[in-house]
Amino acid sequence: MRDKYTDKALSEGLRARSAFKLIQINEKYHIVKRGNDVLDLGCWPGGWMIAAKRMGANKVIGIDLAKIEPVVGAEFIQGSVLESKTINKIQGSFDVVLSDLAPKTSGNRGLDVARSLDLSQAALNIAIKHLKINGNFLVKVFQGEGYQEFFREVNKHFMFVKTVKPEASRQRSMEVYLLGIGFKG
Ligand SMILES: C[S@@+](CC[C@H](N)C(=O)[O-])C[C@H]1O[C@@H](n2cnc3c(N)ncnc32)[C@H](O)[C@@H]1O
Repeated sequence: MRDKYTDKALSEGLRARSAFKLIQINEKYHIVKRGNDVLDLGCWPGGWMIAAKRMGANKVIGIDLAKIEPVVGAEFIQGSVLESKTINKIQGSFDVVLSDLAPKTSGNRGLDVARSLDLSQAALNIAIKHLKINGNFLVKVFQGEGYQEFFREVNKHFMFVKTVKPEASRQRSMEVYLLGIGFKG
């Protein structure tokens, strides 16, 4: 469904309205800073990658099942974050790990929540392996069974953890974002 963010994203060359979710979260929490190296999980069509570059990020690597149109100054890995052959292609460490990973929704809320949690857990595992000490983590999660346990799991690894819902995230959507600031290592 088109709305002001869809039109704004297209007119500003951001590819997807979802870019404004990262932009709004970053305006408040400054998770991506100039010169940062950023890993973006579930990056298609590239809205967050473009937004991260505009925030001044240095290296940006995106991963998705679907192939993206190239983003200037960024790298892309095609594959599933649930498969080791994709995960093994991730090299080096990052200041920020972002995950907007989302399953194809089925209409069965319980199933969708469970699939979203699997993706969020995969993102956390990648963050634990590749974040620099003091790095930041932002992950989309569908609220439902298992959410509190996942929150507690993220909380073990970061100095500060908060649930955020940016204005650009539709109110009726069950998605929220978990923000982990200051990776403890
Ligand atoms: C909401 S979209 C991301 C939008 C993106 N943040 C942007 O601003 O352009 C979620 C993405 O997660 C990807 N995805 C879902 N499961 C995945 C998996 N197992 N591995 C990699 N990507 C996956 C989907 O292909 C989809 O492109």
